[in-house]
Amino acid sequence: MSPALLQHPRFISLEGGEGAGKTTAINAIRNWLGGHGHEVVLTREPGGTPLAERIRGLLLDKGEATAAEPLAAETELLLVFAARAQHVREVIRPALQRGAFVVSDRFTDSSYAYQGEGRGLDPAWIADLERRTVGIAPGMTLLLDLDVRTGRARTSGRDLWPDRIESEHDDFFERVRAGFRQRAAAYPQRFRVIDAGQTPLEVARDVAAAVATFVQGDAA
Ligand SMILES: Nc1ncnc2c1ncn2[C@@H]1O[C@H](COP(=O)(O)OP(=O)(O)OP(=O)(O)O)[C@@H](O)[C@H]1O
Ligand SMILES: [Mg+2]
Repeated sequence: MSPALLQHPRFISLEGGEGAGKTTAINAIRNWLGGHGHEVVLTREPGGTPLAERIRGLLLDKGEATAAEPLAAETELLLVFAARAQHVREVIRPALQRGAFVVSDRFTDSSYAYQGEGRGLDPAWIADLERRTVGIAPGMTLLLDLDVRTGRARTSGRDLWPDRIESEHDDFFERVRAGFRQRAAAYPQRFRVIDAGQTPLEVARDVAAAVATFVQGDAA
């Protein structure tokens, strides 16, 4: 038997497809938590530590090396979890232990959506890696749900060159979106699904309300 997952009440993750507004929403969370006197550590995946950021480079690189030797789906999954194992031990757990809130731009749900639904890898394998190498789950996960084309339109032109994941086709991103929605349906107590097609102000309002309810038990 592998160990159970600990759902931590000061750990919040943001999930969603490309351009859904995760990085934008994180600022609304920081403002709300900071304004209520809480220490907040913002972090992101893949990455969050120097070593994990180097692994992120391997995952997203679309250079010559990747063109010559495509990254196998299995390699992608294991690299994501290698980065996450490091992130949890070096950043997330220490911050939670000293009483801070941790807000992560993506966490394990992204692995179920991208490597599971997107790449077709066995979710039971992902769940086993999650229990053995991560051991912790967010107390609340905000899913910024957005149709794929709108997300694409928001990110197009942001970077000169799309990264390895951004270069995937729409059917991949449709599976990823479906994967996130399935996760939200399977864990309704942890997830809050936010309509990310609203204006930035409306999204920020919904995000702040969800955080207030989660932290205080009301929408103050
Ligand atoms: N509600 C919104 N309406 C319109 N544009 C938005 C909205 N939220 C964010 N944007 C814009 O869309 C772009 C993508 O937003 P953001 O970087 O926050 O998304 P993301 O989910 O972090 O994307 P990625 O997965 O690529 O990191 C940014 O240019 C941002 O200013
Ligand atoms: Mg982002």
